Amino acid sequence: MTEVSNRITMKDVRKVFRLKPGQTMMVDGRASDRITVLSGVDLDIRKGEFLTLVGPSGSGKSVLLDIVAGLTEATSGFASIDGNHVSNPHAGTAYVFQQYALFPWRTALENVAYALEVRGVGKAERRETAQYFLSLFGLNGFEDRYPSQLSGGMQQRVAIARALATNPQVLLMDEPFAALDAQTRDILQIELLRIWEQIKTTVVFVTHAIDEAIFLADRVAVMTARPGRVKEIIEINLPRPRDIEIRNGPDFNAYRARAWNALRDEVQKAQRDWALARSA
Ligand SMILES: Nc1ncnc2c1ncn2[C@@H]1O[C@H](COP(=O)(O)OP(=O)(O)O)[C@@H](O)[C@H]1O
Ligand SMILES: [Mg+2]
Repeated sequence: MTEVSNRITMKDVRKVFRLKPGQTMMVDGRASDRITVLSGVDLDIRKGEFLTLVGPSGSGKSVLLDIVAGLTEATSGFASIDGNHVSNPHAGTAYVFQQYALFPWRTALENVAYALEVRGVGKAERRETAQYFLSLFGLNGFEDRYPSQLSGGMQQRVAIARALATNPQVLLMDEPFAALDAQTRDILQIELLRIWEQIKTTVVFVTHAIDEAIFLADRVAVMTARPGRVKEIIEINLPRPRDIEIRNGPDFNAYRARAWNALRDEVQKAQRDWALARSA
């Protein structure tokens, strides 16, 4: 039976990709035409929780989000949302990617409104809701700009506003701030938390930055190198609302040390695997 208090459950998730014809990978010293990306992923995420996922590059974080989003299927095991197995994209799930993924031919307002249009919301309400979510991110006055007329940080604000405007039960974010400069990133983290504290949707946020993972999260899940699984879960007991200053405090330092301790071996292993694959 699925725990009803969990919004998202991942149970023994395994994902194997078949390589392209003729391609092989070295697995345990032997050539294989398959790659196991995830193996034995178990994770329960509570309703309204902000969970961050850190892991070395190639550990299957994006693939795991795709499985939760219903964009790809687990080879075995499953992901469920509110007790229902995920097998297709779900209207209650919104996804924000690293690249802004806005329609370049639509204005900021039209980008947000479009997400509502496909959900059958009427024109006047679309406009009003889009305007409201843009204003939450301080984008008043920029509604009629096209993406190319906005900075990277503003484009990503529009992308998050578009995701939230659909009132999602689950918000999946895949390294959404990775392409931004450090200052913009800090500001967006604070803005995201401020808005999340009002709406308390369940968030799964992937990052490879430990400080970002700790600053945002209720819990940080650390993934192993490929095949990825959850190695350790760190409960972050820092008070909310959070101020950027907490990053200099002793508690934050202790969390940083613990997270890095869990991650270090995995990053080294991922780098060794990468070097071996290159020399094969
Ligand atoms: N469609 C696919 N076919 C084959 N391999 C894939 C496919 N998608 C992802 N992979 C592989 O799965 C591994 C994990 O990818 P990914 O989830 O993007 O890692 P992460 O997001 O943790 O950096 C990588 O080695 C990647 O090459
Ligand atoms: Mg990724």
